[in-house]
Amino acid sequence: MDPLQAVHLGPRKKRPRQLGTPVASTPYDIRFRDLVLFILEKKMGTTRRAFLMELARRKGFRVENELSDSVTHIVAENNSGSDVLEWLQLQNIKASSELELLDISWLIECMGAGKPVEMMGRHQLVVNRNSSPSPVPGSQNVPAPAVKKISQYACQRRTTLNNYNQLFTDALDILAENDELRENEGSCLAFMRASSVLKSLPFPITSMKDTEGIPCLGDKVKSIIEGIIEDGESSEAKAVLNDERYKSFKLFTSVFGVGLKTAEKWFRMGFRTLSKIQSDKSLRFTQMQKAGFLYYEDLVSCVNRPEAEAVSMLVKEAVVTFLPDALVTMTGGFRRGKMTGHDVDFLITSPEATEDEEQQLLHKVTDFWKQQGLLLYCDILESTFEKFKQPSRKVDALDHFQKCFLILKLDHGRVHSEKSGQQEGKGWKAIRVDLVMCPYDRRAFALLGWTGSRFERDLRRYATHERKMMLDNHALYDRTKGKTVTISPLDGKVSKLQKALRVFLEAESEEEIFAHLGLDYIEPWERNA
Ligand code: CTP
Ligand code: MN
Ligand code: MN
Repeated sequence: MDPLQAVHLGPRKKRPRQLGTPVASTPYDIRFRDLVLFILEKKMGTTRRAFLMELARRKGFRVENELSDSVTHIVAENNSGSDVLEWLQLQNIKASSELELLDISWLIECMGAGKPVEMMGRHQLVVNRNSSPSPVPGSQNVPAPAVKKISQYACQRRTTLNNYNQLFTDALDILAENDELRENEGSCLAFMRASSVLKSLPFPITSMKDTEGIPCLGDKVKSIIEGIIEDGESSEAKAVLNDERYKSFKLFTSVFGVGLKTAEKWFRMGFRTLSKIQSDKSLRFTQMQKAGFLYYEDLVSCVNRPEAEAVSMLVKEAVVTFLPDALVTMTGGFRRGKMTGHDVDFLITSPEATEDEEQQLLHKVTDFWKQQGLLLYCDILESTFEKFKQPSRKVDALDHFQKCFLILKLDHGRVHSEKSGQQEGKGWKAIRVDLVMCPYDRRAFALLGWTGSRFERDLRRYATHERKMMLDNHALYDRTKGKTVTISPLDGKVSKLQKALRVFLEAESEEEIFAHLGLDYIEPWERNA
C-alpha cells in the first residue's frame, strides 16, 4: 500500500513546488515525496534539531536544512503558531496559507509510525492574531514525553520493531557483542539490558534528561549515550567496529557451524580471511562447517518473508504427509514480525500422535526431502525430555525437545515475491531451517520459548526472582506450592509424583502462562526486546 494513502493531507493536497534551493543531500531514500519538512531551531536547540532531522531522514522523510518555497510542513517545539509566524516575518518570508505549522508531537508520532500520521487538531499550532505571541495552551511548553515507571524486565515492557532509539541501540548491541566474544559476561549483559530497555521506549532520547528514571542504564551506558547525543555516533562502538579481533570473530562466526571457540582458534592461528581458512590443508572442518562454507553466500544473505512463507508451505506439506493432524507454527523472529531472519524456525506438535509417531516425524520429513534432493544439510538431535524434570534455572539453557538444524534447497519457483527478476542465477537458494517437535501438552511453553528474543530470558528471570517459579521451554513450576506437600516415607515414589503434578502449572496457550505469572499478555510482535 502507498504509505500516504492512509494519511489525510487535507483538502489543500498539493505537490511540492519547484525547489528554490537544492534538496539537502541525504544518504537516505526519500519515501514520502509529498511532504517537505523544515524543523525550526528556535527554542529547540541545534543538537536536538540535528538529531530529529537525522531521525526523520532515516525514516524516509524529506527534511530541508533551510526554509525554502518547497517546504510544506514547518515543525516547531515550544512555539505557538503565532511565534512561528513572527519568526517567519523576521526572516522576511511570507507564509503561504498552504503551509502547515505543526507541533513536534506530530513529527514524533510520525517517527513512531514510520510514516506520516494524520494531522489532528492537537498537532496544529494555534495562531492567535489578536494578541502578541504568547503561550498557547496545549501546544506551548510541550514537556518531554513523560517516563512512566519502566520495568527492569523486558517481559513487562512492550517492545515492537518500531525502535525510536536505533542510533543508541545499534551502538550498545555492538558493544555487547564485543564483550560476548571477549567473555566479559557482566558487561555484555549490562549493554544488552540497556539496549533492550531503549528499544521499548515510545520516544527518541534526545538529551540526557530523557534518560532519567529509565532502569538498566548504568554510568558506562550513560556516558555512551551522552557521546552519541553530542557527536551523533559512538566513538566506543566505532573503535570496536575497527578492531581486528572483533572483525575476525564477526566474519568467522558468520559461517554456519562456527562458534566462538573455533573463531578464537582461527584468530590465534593468524587467519583473517575466510578464503585463507577454506584453502588451508591443515584445518579440519565439521560437516556443519563444510555446509556453512559451501552455501555461505546464500546463508549470509538474510531470509526474507516471502522466502520464509515458501519454506512454511514446504514444511507443512511434508509434515501433514506423515501426521495429518499436526500443527506447524512459524516461531522465532518471523513470528515477532521481523521482515528478515538468519533462519526460519518452526514448532511442530500433534494432538493424536503416539510417542513413537512423534519421535519418527522429523526423520520421515527429512528423508522425504532427501529423496527429492531438497536436503542440503541435516542434523537431528533426539529428545532428552523428561515429564517431571524441574525447569532449568539457567536462563539460556537449551531445551530438551527433539529438533533438527537443516539447510533446505528452496526453488525460486516456490517463492511468491512481488519483486521480479529474482529468477537469475542457479534458480534456488539455500535456507537455514530449524524444526522442533514437542509433546502436545507442552506446546504453549515451547512456542513461548521459541518465539524468543531477550524477552524470553527476562520471563524466566522474572519467574524466578519475582514469583518463586521456574519457567523454561518445557514447563512452569511453582516452588511455593511444592514445599507444602509432605512426602510419605512409606510410599515415597507415588507421593513424589503427586508432588510433581501439583507444582507443574499447565497451559494450553501463551496467554495462560502469562496469567500464571501474573503478567499482562504481551503479543509476539511486542517481544522484540
Ligand atoms: N532456541 C533454542 N535453542 C537453540 C536455538 C534457538 O531454544 N539451540 C530458541 C531460542 O529461544 C531463540 C529462538 O529459538 O530465541 C529463535 O532462535 P534464533 O533462530 O537463533 O533467533 P531469532 O530470534 O529467530 O532470530 P533470527 O531472525 O536471526 O533467526
Ligand atoms: Mn530464527
Ligand atoms: Mn533458529
